[in-house]
Amino acid sequence: MKILVLNGPNLNMLGIREPDIYGKSTYNDLCELINGYAVKKGIDVEIYQSNHEGTLVDKIQQAYNVFDGIVINPAAYTHTSIALLDALKAVGIPAVEVHISDVSAREAFRQISYIREACKATVSGKGFSGYLEAIDILLGE
Ligand code: DQA
Repeated sequence: MKILVLNGPNLNMLGIREPDIYGKSTYNDLCELINGYAVKKGIDVEIYQSNHEGTLVDKIQQAYNVFDGIVINPAAYTHTSIALLDALKAVGIPAVEVHISDVSAREAFRQISYIREACKATVSGKGFSGYLEAIDILLGE
């Protein structure tokens, strides 16, 4: 089982950006958590972050026939990007949407998710452990 974990804009700033919302742990802490979980579960994981919509689209396209599942936190692109939705639909790889914060309890513009339609589940408001829950969903656990 090969899982691609994709992170969108500003998630490289975890630990610095709005710690009251996203916590004090860093992006590197997140990567270590996910990599450790992958070892425990005996799966292959690649983690990738970009601030650029087109780069994320490229990464989703390149996942075709390579990865069995995608965990995606599109960050702000969640609320704007038809291109990411179309890319996920194009490759047809099972995907789970993750948000560190509880987007349902935040601003109205965060209630809209363009990519939800292409995802089998959404995990929101569970902090970093939401990524592990998303992996479990892809593993059918
Ligand atoms: C986020 C929520 C988004 O609304 C926001 O733009 C982010 C992070 C989250 O993980 O809670 O950058 O996806």
